[in-house]
Amino acid sequence: MTNRSKYQETYASWKSDPEAFWEACAKELDWFEPWSRAFDPEAAVYGQWFPDATCNTCHNAVDRHVQSGRADQLAIVHDSAMTGSKRSVTYAELQAEVEALAAVLKDRDVGKGDRVIIYMPMVLEAAVAMLACARLGAVHSVVFGGFAANELATRIEDCTPKAIISASCGLEPGRTVAYKPLLDAAIDMVEQKPGSCIVLQREQLVCELIEGRDLDYKTAVEAHKASGTKVPCTPVKATDPLYILYTSGTTGQPKGVVRDNGGHMVALHWTMNAIYGVDAGEVFWAASDVGWVVGHSYIVYAPLLKGCTSILFEGKPVGTPDAGTFWRVIDEHKVAALFTAPTAFRAIKKEDPSGSLIANYDISTLRTLFLAGERADPDTIEWAQEKLQVPVIDHWWQTETGWTIAGNPVGLGALPVKLGSPTVPMPGYDVQVLDDEGHPVPTGTLGNIVVRLPLPPSCLPTLWNADDRFKDAYLSEFPGYYKTADAGMMDEDGYLFIMSRTDDIINVAGHRLSTGGIEEAIAGHPAVAECAVVGVEDALKGQIPVGFLILSADVDRDTADIEKEVVQRVREVIGPVAAFKLAICVERLPKTRSGKILRGTMQKIADGAEWKMPATIDDPTVLSEISETLKARGIGSFAP
Ligand code: COA
Ligand code: AMP
Repeated sequence: MTNRSKYQETYASWKSDPEAFWEACAKELDWFEPWSRAFDPEAAVYGQWFPDATCNTCHNAVDRHVQSGRADQLAIVHDSAMTGSKRSVTYAELQAEVEALAAVLKDRDVGKGDRVIIYMPMVLEAAVAMLACARLGAVHSVVFGGFAANELATRIEDCTPKAIISASCGLEPGRTVAYKPLLDAAIDMVEQKPGSCIVLQREQLVCELIEGRDLDYKTAVEAHKASGTKVPCTPVKATDPLYILYTSGTTGQPKGVVRDNGGHMVALHWTMNAIYGVDAGEVFWAASDVGWVVGHSYIVYAPLLKGCTSILFEGKPVGTPDAGTFWRVIDEHKVAALFTAPTAFRAIKKEDPSGSLIANYDISTLRTLFLAGERADPDTIEWAQEKLQVPVIDHWWQTETGWTIAGNPVGLGALPVKLGSPTVPMPGYDVQVLDDEGHPVPTGTLGNIVVRLPLPPSCLPTLWNADDRFKDAYLSEFPGYYKTADAGMMDEDGYLFIMSRTDDIINVAGHRLSTGGIEEAIAGHPAVAECAVVGVEDALKGQIPVGFLILSADVDRDTADIEKEVVQRVREVIGPVAAFKLAICVERLPKTRSGKILRGTMQKIADGAEWKMPATIDDPTVLSEISETLKARGIGSFAP
C-alpha cells in the first residue's frame, strides 16, 4: 500500500473509537436536536445510530444548500438519451418542486411515517418524489420500472402505501412501456388499496386517470407552485425510516430493506469525499436507475447531501443512439466522477471495441470511474483504464448497506489496484472471512464473508415489519456477525476478493435476482411439474438465468410451445428485467438421495467449470443428460 493514502490512519481511527468517528462526520450536517450518544447498543435488533437525535434528510439534501449559497447551482441535470431532451434544476428550483409535491401529498393526507410507493421511469420527478416524501417524514419505496404488475403488487401489499406516485410511461429502446395498466393491475391484486395515485403524464404516451383516485402530477404541483404553499421539513427521529427498498430474497417474497434517516445521511455524506474524491459544486454521475440502491444513494441522496450536481440519465450505454452516449454526457455536463456497473462497460466494449467514439468528445473533466453491482472482471477494468486514461475503481456493496463495504477510497488517497479485488474494508466495517462453522479461515482461503456487529450508519436496522426474518436471514448463522451471503477471501495485504453468492441469488446485468423467485413463477405454469433455475455465465450480463423444466406426465404438447409460454410467463410475473429467455425441457433433474436438486453442479457444467461428482448423487447419469442438452442447445460454455 502507498504511504500517501490516509486510509490506514482513517480506518484505525474508526476502529479505536467508532462513535467518535461517526460523531465527527455527523457534525457536518444539520440536526434539529443533536444526539446525546452516537450509538445505543440496546436499541432495535443490534443497536441504532444517533438514537435520540432529530433531523430531516430533505433539509440536508436541499434546503441547507439553498440557505448556504448554493441556491443557483445546478442540483440535478436530467439528460434523456431516449427523448433527446434535457432539463436542469438549481437547488432553489429543486426546493420549489419538492415543496409543491410535498404539498400535494399533504393534501392527500400523507404525513410522517406513511408509506408512498414511487413507480417511475428515469425522470426528474422521480427524485423530486423521493425528496418530497423525505420532507414530510413519509417513507418512500421506489419500485423499479422493469418489474411486472405482480412484483409491484407484492410490494404494495407489504408496505401498504397511502399513495403511489407514478408516470404514464417509461421508454425502452424500441418500445414505450405503458406504466398505467401495470399500476392498475397491481392495485386490483391487493386488498389494502392506496388512497390516491399521482400520475405524471409524459407526452410519449398519455394515460387515462381514474376519477376520485388519480391525480394529474403536473396540474396538482403547478397549483401549489402558483400559490406558493410552504411545507417546512418535518423533524423526524434519526432512527425513523427514510425508505424501504425491496430486494431479492431466497423466496419470491422480496425483502424490504429499511434505511433510517440519520445514519444514512451521515455515512453517505462522508463517502462523497472520502471514497469518491468529489467535492461540493462538482458533477457526479451514477449511471444506474432510481429503482436500485445505487440510484437511491448516488443519483439522489449522496450527491445532494454533499452539494454536488447530480446527473439523472434516461438511456442505455449502447443503442441510445450509440456507444458514445456516456462520453457525450461526460463532455456536455462536465462530469468529474462516473459510477456504473461493469456490464455497461462490457456493452460499450462490445459495440466499440477500439473505443473510437471517445475521440469525438472532450472527457477531460472525468477523474475516476467507479464500478459496482457485480464482480468487475479484469478485462473490463483494463479496457476502461486504457481507453479513458483514468483510475478505474471497483467497490463492493449491497442494497442492505447502502454504501461501500470494501472499496478503494480515492479521496483519502487511492491504494494500489489489484485486479479482481474491490480493495479493502471501509471504516465502519470489520470484515471477517469464516468457515461454515464460524471459525476464521487462513489468509487466502475461500469462506463466508461477514461483518462484525454492529453495522455502521446507513446499514439496514431491520427488514420492514419482519424483525424475525431479518435475524434469520442475516444474523443467526454467524452469531455476532452480519452475513453478507457473499463468499470470498482476504489476501495478506487485507484486500478482499468477492467470488460468488452463498445463496440462490444471481446477478444479471448488475441486477440482483432470486432463482427461487423465478422458479416460483415457472412452477405456476400448468404443464410444469418441477423446475430448477441456475445462473449461467454470460459475456455481457455476467450471468443469465436458465430454467430446466420437467413436464407433468400427462402433458402431451409440443415442448417448444411450453418453453415459449414459460418464458412469457416469467416476463409477466417478474418482469422483463429478469432477462429470462432460456427455458429447456429435460427428462430428469439431478438430485441427491435426499431429493435436493444439484443446482450448483448444473451451473458448473453449464459454465464449463471444474466439477466433482457429488458423493450424495442419486443417479450420476442425469448429469450427462443435462450436459448433452446444454450442448445440443448451445447454452453457456457450449455456445457456438
Ligand atoms: N422498464 C421497463 N423495462 C425495462 C426497464 C425499465 N426500467 N429496464 C430494463 N427493462 C427491460 C429491457 O427493455 C429488456 O427488455 P427486452 O427483454 O424486451 O429486451 C429487459 O428488461 C432486460 O433489460 P437489461 O438487463 O437492461 O438488458 P438490455 O439488453 O436492455 O441492456 C445493458 C443491457 C448491459 C445495456 C443494460 O443491462 C445496462 O445498461 N446495464 C447497466 C446496469 C445497471 O445500471 N445496474 C444497476 C446497478 S449499478
Ligand atoms: P445489490 O444488493 O443489488 O447491490 O447486490 C449486491 C450483490 O451484488 C452483492 O452481495 C454481490 O454479490 C454483488 N456485488 C456488488 N458489487 C460487487 C463487486 N464490486 N464485486 C463483486 N460482487 C459485487
